[in-house]
Amino acid sequence: MLQSAETRSKLDDAVAHEQRIYESSNPTSRRKFEAAKEVLPGGNTRGSLYFDPFPLFFSSARSSKVTDADGHEYSDFGNDLTAALFGHSNEAIVAALQAGLDNGVSYGGTHDHEVAFAREICRRFQSIERVRFLTSGTEANVAAIQLAKAETGRCLVLGFFGGYHGNVLNWLEPESEMNVDRADVRLARYNHIETVEQIVREEGEDIAAILVEPIMGSAGGFVADTAFLRRLRSICDEIGALLIFDEVQTARFAVGGYQSIVDISPNLTILGKFFGGGLNFGALGGAARHMDRLGPTHVRALSHGGTFSNNVLTMIAGYAALKEVLLEENVDRLNTRSNELRSALLRQANSRRVPLQLGSFGSLISTHFQADMPRGPEDVQTPPIFRKLFQLFMINNGIFITRRGQLTLSMANTEDEYLALENAFGVFLDRYGELTDAFR
Ligand SMILES: Cc1ncc(COP(=O)(O)O)c(C=O)c1O
Repeated sequence: MLQSAETRSKLDDAVAHEQRIYESSNPTSRRKFEAAKEVLPGGNTRGSLYFDPFPLFFSSARSSKVTDADGHEYSDFGNDLTAALFGHSNEAIVAALQAGLDNGVSYGGTHDHEVAFAREICRRFQSIERVRFLTSGTEANVAAIQLAKAETGRCLVLGFFGGYHGNVLNWLEPESEMNVDRADVRLARYNHIETVEQIVREEGEDIAAILVEPIMGSAGGFVADTAFLRRLRSICDEIGALLIFDEVQTARFAVGGYQSIVDISPNLTILGKFFGGGLNFGALGGAARHMDRLGPTHVRALSHGGTFSNNVLTMIAGYAALKEVLLEENVDRLNTRSNELRSALLRQANSRRVPLQLGSFGSLISTHFQADMPRGPEDVQTPPIFRKLFQLFMINNGIFITRRGQLTLSMANTEDEYLALENAFGVFLDRYGELTDAFR
């Protein structure tokens, strides 16, 4: 094993090497990024897509491939931070959209597409009797919190350090001034029920809702113990609060959502990303007795609009995705292939004695180059510099992944791409695996 100081300097050299390749291969992306800064703050519209030294500019995407401005084609294992579950321009969804385009995209009236789509969601989710559509996961989380506050007459939300529920409910950065209602949020530690119980002992009477990702996604793919989730359910019942599952990422794991896997019924569920078939989307669902407050004819109606909430194209795309793509057999096939990929990656690491933990579940694979599986953000030991090395190496080898090191699989990824990913991973470990010594 190398000495740590020596390894650290090798790690710096390795990153510099991969970065030189990246920069020299992508002059057009760099030029476009510099030009974008003239009109977009930091050359960016969506902070989570930025990575240094500059992000790739994409020019097109089809099926499992994305093409950048310099003409490189990548096997896409970033898949729009989980939103592109069906790959890019899925044929069934595109056909439905094309048929819809000629009939008007924004009626300004109620229509059958929203009812059909909602009916299909209610059929799939045991805990959902009514659905409210919105335009993003963020918006759906905000609406869920306001509904819970209205239903309970209370003011606090209990969440978790590292939870990500949208750009104004970002508990990866709880102090961020972009976050709303900071004074009304109490954060506990994920998978540490005693920290939840302590907050409940102190302020239980004021807690309107517990908001949780049943697998913490953006922070690093931490799987909640089922006993932990069950206890959240029973605490909510004991104190009269609503349990909200943010399934924006986890709904992909089963047709009835991850809640059907752990067999726990939340009061409210948040959906987003791929559920809209690739268009702007968010949804809030739950039991009629809570959800009906959002209806305009309720005696205590909570007024709630949203110009694009029932956008015709989104409703058509989401419905087509559910009826033709997000089918049980496709979900099972993806989960199975993802688990095989997990095993192959772990075998590669074990045979080279490189520490590797693969977090999350099924088709979301969070890489952690460390000996123990992290159960929450505080357990993560893989430093940003190693994540940068991993990402730039993969991009330089034709595989697009995001900086956070989450391999996001889509239903469009091909067998050849899985094998290419496995091979590239092996080469990465051969070349750079020993550098994990720098942060052991
Ligand atoms: C679990 C979770 N909730 C909410 C959101 C926010 O969704 P949107 O980006 O559509 O606002 C995200 C987005 O990454 C997410 O992962």
